[in-house]
Amino acid sequence: MMAMAGSAVGLGNIWRFPYIVGEYGGAAFILVYIVATIFLSLPVFLSETIIGRRSRSNTFGAMEKLAPGTPWKWLGLATVISTMILLSYYSVVGGWSVEYLFKSLAFDFTGVPSEEMTGVFGNFISSTWEPVVMHTIFLLMCAGIILGGVKKGIERFSKITMPILFILIVVIMGYAISLPGSGEGVRYLLKPDWSKLSAEAVAAAIGQSFYSLSLGVGTILTYGSYVRREENLLASSAGTATSDLLFALLAGFAIMPAVFAAGIAPGSGPGLVFETLPFIFNKMSGAVPLLGAIIAILFFLTILVAALTSAISLLEVGVAYLCEEKKLSRPVATGVLFVFVWGIGILCSLSFGSLSELKILGCTIFEFFDKLCSNYLMVLGGLLFTIFVGWKMSRDDVRDELTSGGRYANRIFPALWFLIRYIAPLAVLAIFITNLVL
Ligand code: PFF
Repeated sequence: MMAMAGSAVGLGNIWRFPYIVGEYGGAAFILVYIVATIFLSLPVFLSETIIGRRSRSNTFGAMEKLAPGTPWKWLGLATVISTMILLSYYSVVGGWSVEYLFKSLAFDFTGVPSEEMTGVFGNFISSTWEPVVMHTIFLLMCAGIILGGVKKGIERFSKITMPILFILIVVIMGYAISLPGSGEGVRYLLKPDWSKLSAEAVAAAIGQSFYSLSLGVGTILTYGSYVRREENLLASSAGTATSDLLFALLAGFAIMPAVFAAGIAPGSGPGLVFETLPFIFNKMSGAVPLLGAIIAILFFLTILVAALTSAISLLEVGVAYLCEEKKLSRPVATGVLFVFVWGIGILCSLSFGSLSELKILGCTIFEFFDKLCSNYLMVLGGLLFTIFVGWKMSRDDVRDELTSGGRYANRIFPALWFLIRYIAPLAVLAIFITNLVL
């Protein structure tokens, strides 16, 4: 369960959430995001854990076990492909955090004015070699942990770093809010401007919620297959969703006030966090010498770990499939997937520089994969997982999983069942269609 929280809390909360909020206009978007997390993401999360624990298998095997001889197994196989695509561009951003950790260790931010930080980031991501090398380092770390196994490798890691990350974000948030000019940023996050809430923004809020909770691509299903029978699925899933939401909100309140204080445009895209954080750290060091530099090191280190615990959950989907279904050894499975993800990741990385002119449906390769995953693959996967649990599995089996065989009373089961069977699939289908039309 700690590993599930590790999968959920990652770059999606710290890097993606603030800039998506900035692109779609602040408070109104956040409200939709919170409602979607409770009423849509939680049922999808539960559906995946139910399938995982019931079948005790990888995504493909799970479908074969619970619905033998049906086309559902192709959903299982499709998730292996989705996770590898997602990992390939996630690893590029993971590489950015490696670079920023190195930069903070070398005290590279100290004294650099905020206008220059934007240029520093732009030059870095558009160069050819450095981001590719960082992506490689990140992916190698990820493969190394996967080889160590889920329990030893992943759990031990997350248990120590998650609380540290939490404390650091709270400290940074407190400081950011105290900066002159930050009030505008706080207002931006608290005062909804409903006129900015387009259908596209609603769809993006739901996409972000799925992304943040690692839904629709079989990651939670795979981890669910390792969860013990005695564990309370509802309590742990709700706990994971709550902490993930909290991390995202804290990151928003740490970054957005500083964005306004630094005079950066909130809608400036994927670089937002990397351009804003050094500004905060510099200001801190201005107030207390070296304080910002030290917090920067700790912060980028914990971001890196949060990114790694998410990335390994993506890799684990493919590794579990290849080991259980194709009988490959863990090292061979990891190696095969590494090569695939590494190659696509390089293209994603170059799409900020030498390949920036190469467009797929008007998007760069990186943007295309990000949109493909969060607007389509995750949404479609989430839809199918809820349909599977609500319509293919029996009510008794679902109740049995949610109560761990009657061990836990679950008075809200009828409401959950209703959400899983009707509300979630219908709403998610509506979002999928909206995305297609848009
Ligand atoms: N939830 C992760 C984050 O917020 O960074 C990203 C992610 C991990 C998405 C695993 C999907 C996934 F399967």
